[in-house]
Amino acid sequence: MRRRLKLGLLASGRGSNLQAVIDACADGHIDAEPCVVVCNNRDAEALARAATAGIAAVHLSSRTHPAPAALDAAIRDTLASHGVDLVVLAGYMKRLGPLTLERFRGRIVNIHPALLPQFGGQGMYGMRVHEAVLAAGACESGATVHLVDAEYDRGAILAQSRVPVHARDTAPTLAARVLDAEHTLLVDTLARIARGALHLPGLSTPLR
Ligand code: GRF
Repeated sequence: MRRRLKLGLLASGRGSNLQAVIDACADGHIDAEPCVVVCNNRDAEALARAATAGIAAVHLSSRTHPAPAALDAAIRDTLASHGVDLVVLAGYMKRLGPLTLERFRGRIVNIHPALLPQFGGQGMYGMRVHEAVLAAGACESGATVHLVDAEYDRGAILAQSRVPVHARDTAPTLAARVLDAEHTLLVDTLARIARGALHLPGLSTPLR
């Protein structure tokens, strides 16, 4: 029998994307095992969700490791020590350091709450993304799963899904609609990767 893909997940706050992935691994939709959750906020719901699911949950931040290089090394080593094949940024608001990027090059994916390449880049996170979409008068928004490299929101796009923007939308109403799309897109994309239906571009050794 094929070994299940090992996921390392990073999250920062509420952790609803994390929960969607945990649930989909548990019900078999994603043929993968969430091995470890890293969170930069000790009090985040994401850490509690991981612990409830019986997944190793680790707080790593500038509080635990004040030197950026030490934090980067700790994140890399935590993921590596759990044998992680694929790193998933599931609502992770921090930038990864060069050691982690290098160790998992081509094997890190992120979910972004808009249709990249628009509405991405430095400072484009949380409600700001949806405010920018509304300010631009866009008639649709959506979610993007993409590879992570050293640039914010610039790696290869793996999958997108679209939602309409309604005339009466506020940033929170749009965010809620996009969040539903994020959960579905992230789970479906990871499921495709785990069953070998979606290959990550640029990997010399395929994950599946
Ligand atoms: C999501 O919109 C995610 O795309 C963005 O931040 C939000 C996190 O939500 N980066 P949650 O923590 O997954 O509930």
